[in-house]
This record gives sequence, C-alpha cells and structure tokens, in this order.
Amino acid sequence: MFSTRTPAPGARNRLTTALDAHPRPVLDLTATNPTTAGLPVDPSPALALLADGRGGVYSPDPCGLLSAREAVSSYYAGRGVDAGPGRIVLTASSSEAYGWLFKLLAAPGDAILVPAPSYPLLDALAGLEGVELVRYRLPSEDRWAVHASLVEDAADRVAASGRRVAAVVVVNPNNPTGTSISRAELGALSSLAARRGFAIVSDEVFLDYRFEDRPGDVRVAAAETQAAGEALVFSLGGLSKSALLPQLKLGWIVASGPSPLLAEALERLEWIADSYLSVASPVQLALPGLLAWGDAAAGALRARLLSNHATLVEGLSALPEVTVTPLSAGWSAVLRLPAVEAEEGLVLRLLAQEDLLVHPGYFFDFPREAFLVLSLLPEEATFREGTARLVRGLFARR
Ligand SMILES: Cc1ncc(COP(=O)(O)O)c(C=O)c1O
Repeated sequence: MFSTRTPAPGARNRLTTALDAHPRPVLDLTATNPTTAGLPVDPSPALALLADGRGGVYSPDPCGLLSAREAVSSYYAGRGVDAGPGRIVLTASSSEAYGWLFKLLAAPGDAILVPAPSYPLLDALAGLEGVELVRYRLPSEDRWAVHASLVEDAADRVAASGRRVAAVVVVNPNNPTGTSISRAELGALSSLAARRGFAIVSDEVFLDYRFEDRPGDVRVAAAETQAAGEALVFSLGGLSKSALLPQLKLGWIVASGPSPLLAEALERLEWIADSYLSVASPVQLALPGLLAWGDAAAGALRARLLSNHATLVEGLSALPEVTVTPLSAGWSAVLRLPAVEAEEGLVLRLLAQEDLLVHPGYFFDFPREAFLVLSLLPEEATFREGTARLVRGLFARR
C-alpha cells in the first residue's frame, strides 16, 4: 500500500523508550528550540511586523518577493558577502531547501555524499526524495575537516556500484563539531565536483554563530566560489537559526556557478518553487525587520552559548580524561571520553541516575565511541545544574 519513502510507524529506540517510561522530570541538555530557551529577547516587535496590511493581497513570485530577496542580499552585504537577489530563492526552511535541491539535482536512486559526523537531518529528507545518502568521513585526527580526497573515495564507491553522485553536502560550520571549511578545502572540493559533474550544497544555517574563525575559513561558499565558477554551489541559510524564528518558516538558497549552468539551475529551481509557492507573504514582507530583530536575538544567544561553554569547561576540569572541544561555531558542545562504557549505556545511566538527557555521539554518526553531544542553548542556571549532574554521573564510572 505505502511507498518506501516513509518508515513504518512506531519505531522506537532504547533511549526514546527509556525517556517515555522515565518517572521523574528530566533536565534536557539536548534542547535546541530557541523560542523556549528563555532568552532575554521579546519576540513581540518581530511578530507585530507580520500584521503589514500588504499581506492581505496574494501576488506570489516563485523565488520569493523581490523585496524579501533584497533583504536577504542586504543581510549578506552586512556580513561582507556579495549575494545579489537574482541568485536567491526563498524556501520555507533549510529542510525544504534540501528537498528542492535534491529534486533539482538527483534522480531517484542517485547518491548524495554527506559528512560524518554531522547532524542527522538528511536521512529522512533523502528517503522522501528517493535518493541515497553515502557518507564521507571527516577525520577526527584533523579537527573534522573536509578532505576532497575522502569525498572522492566516497564518489568512487558510488561509481563502482553503478550509481551516479548528484551532489556533495558540506555543513559549514558543521553541527556539532563546529568545524568550517577552508578556502583551500573548498577549492579542492569545487574542482572535484566540476570534474565529476556534481553540485555542492553548503548548509550555512549557523553562519551567525562563529566564534573562532581561522584565516581562510569560508563563511558563504556560494560567494567564495563565484569568481572561480567551477562547480554549481548552493548556500543555505534561514530565519530559524539566524533570527531564532523557526516558527516563521523562511529559509533561502544562494546559488553560484559557471554560466550557462547557473542560469539553468535557477530557472529549474524557480519551476520547483512555483509548484509549491510555500513561503507565506506576511513573513516575506516582514523580512527586513525580522532580520534586524534577529541580529539582536542572535547576539543574546551568542553570549549564552559562550557562557554555557565556559561553565562546561570549568565543570569538566575535574575530569581530565574528558575533552571538551573548543566552541569554534554552532550551538553544541562535543565531549570526548575514554570508551570504558558504551555510549548508549552511559546515556541511559545518566538518564536513570541523574535525570539528565544528553545525546550519544552515534546519533551524529561519530565514527567510534565515546562522544557525547550537549546543546548549549538552555538557560544558564539550568545548564549549570546539568553540568553538575553530568560531572557527578561521569565520576561514578571512574
Ligand atoms: C546543520 C543544520 N541544518 C539545517 C537544520 C534545519 O534548519 P531549518 O529549521 O531551517 O529546517 C538544522 C537544525 O538543527 C541543522 O542543525
């Protein structure tokens, strides 16, 4: 009856089962919803912008209203990045942007190369498009950097099985490792993509949460590669992270590439966008003001992320065998621990004994044990309490 694009209902893992049965309130250090994180920002001025009377008229532009695309272009200009409105397509979210790009680039059965470790968003999206994800390794021994040679290994594996690679995804900065791609790494990847005939999709939703850029780190791949013009590159961004407004459902794609390939890609993307017209007019009309409001909101969150990371580093200094990765970018902290206890067992024990929820590394496809991933979003007092419980739970296994 049903296609294989959706999984069979009701699948549970040991962690979700344990959570459902947990008898006490849980301190959740996996929470990443910015609208319930108690940030000291009042959303009402942003929400008031949605009442613009022009929103009463429906006159859609498939790629997004020009005024909204200009607002995205100004957002990038404010960050020193050139992205003209003619190369911007609005979507309801970056997840939708992925869906549209997979439709644009991949036929059913084609492969998309994705990084590991990274955020496990794409399995469901790829399943829905009938495309297959093939992982390329980000080596832990080189701070989880993107190596074109490892991407090429993955592309070779795909070719050997008689399939086609449609695109490679980079998450820049990566979630949860915080690693950014360097200009040299992107140059090598771009040459590989051009040579092998696939596109680059660069997920840059954490653009506004960069704390330790190194010289040569790339912020917006579509802008960086514009001059070289070797491969088609699509950079993704959106309100959900940059303005902490995931509920308003607006994201975007910035495209670059050699002509005439770029023009054709944009025309085909416009056709996909026209089939959905999914971005509501009020949010598009409000976009200039929402992005301005979002600047302040993101600033408040950056202060919290830094403060919580410092709390974690201080708390874990009592356990020298545990390494906390520096907060180079993003909303997460990655902990590396001696693998004396299986990740899943450790996470279940922290839940049972400390009423504390953290993510096991395998959730993000870390290559081996043992890693934990924590969200740095919770309120400072909650995070301090969570750190104390974590330290107590980790002491117990010494
Ligand atoms: C790397 C990355 N990309 C995309 C998303 C989803 O963003 P959106 O809400 O715009 O779909 C997330 C969500 O956490 C993410 O971590």
